[in-house]
Amino acid sequence: MPSPYYETDLKEKVLSGSHRELIGGLWDKMGRMQLDFMRDQGVQPHHVLMDIGCGALRFGSQAVDYLNPSHYYGIDISEELLDAGYNKELTDRQRERLPRSHLHATESFDFSYLNDQRIDRALAQSVFTHLPMNHIRHCLIKLAPVMKPDGVFYATFSLCPDHHNITEKLIHPSGEEVSVEVITYDIRDPYHYTLEDLEYCAKDTPWKFQYLGDWGHPRNLKMAAFFMQD
Ligand SMILES: C[S@@+](CC[C@H](N)C(=O)[O-])C[C@H]1O[C@@H](n2cnc3c(N)ncnc32)[C@H](O)[C@@H]1O
Repeated sequence: MPSPYYETDLKEKVLSGSHRELIGGLWDKMGRMQLDFMRDQGVQPHHVLMDIGCGALRFGSQAVDYLNPSHYYGIDISEELLDAGYNKELTDRQRERLPRSHLHATESFDFSYLNDQRIDRALAQSVFTHLPMNHIRHCLIKLAPVMKPDGVFYATFSLCPDHHNITEKLIHPSGEEVSVEVITYDIRDPYHYTLEDLEYCAKDTPWKFQYLGDWGHPRNLKMAAFFMQD
């Protein structure tokens, strides 16, 4: 199993009401932080946004109020998380601004449900930490054709610094909101990556990788950007 999100008991856990904990808790803070970040990057209400690994709409529940109606899209591996987010985390007014058909469950980054819709900005927050490297490359390759020519994809990841032996576990400093240390690995979830790893994933794709760095994430995740190349 690449990550706990592939486990069959995820469904029962979501149905028992644990969807907020399953996607990492810190509900209000991390939802707001993602919206603030995207706005700082120039995302406007008229942009069409794709939230990759959107889970139970921690960010989506903030984004639907900011974006024009029907401008938010999300995919996730778990239909149950999408249902929990849509049915339990949105108000009636927010559901009017977000058709349920904009949320799609897929294990293979299948964006064909978009039909002719093209995406201005995409975000994968705390998703690469749960993906093996070949899945990241797969995600980049599948996302590229549905982006607009000036599209940008932002993704958070756990950075393995140059001085660290990649095969050794990496202990990240705990912060104010997260008292337990976060430990990442190269061959198991949660995964860490070097900058060269992400650059390699983008090689021979339409994407150009750029490291943006720290953005204040409580579990020390860094921010990467992938730009569509001319
Ligand atoms: C830590 S949660 C983050 C959720 C959301 N991005 C947020 O910040 O609230 C990771 C999410 O990635 C999803 N995920 C994991 N592997 C995936 C895959 N291969 N394809 C799509 N989604 C995936 C999980 O189901 C989960 O919702």
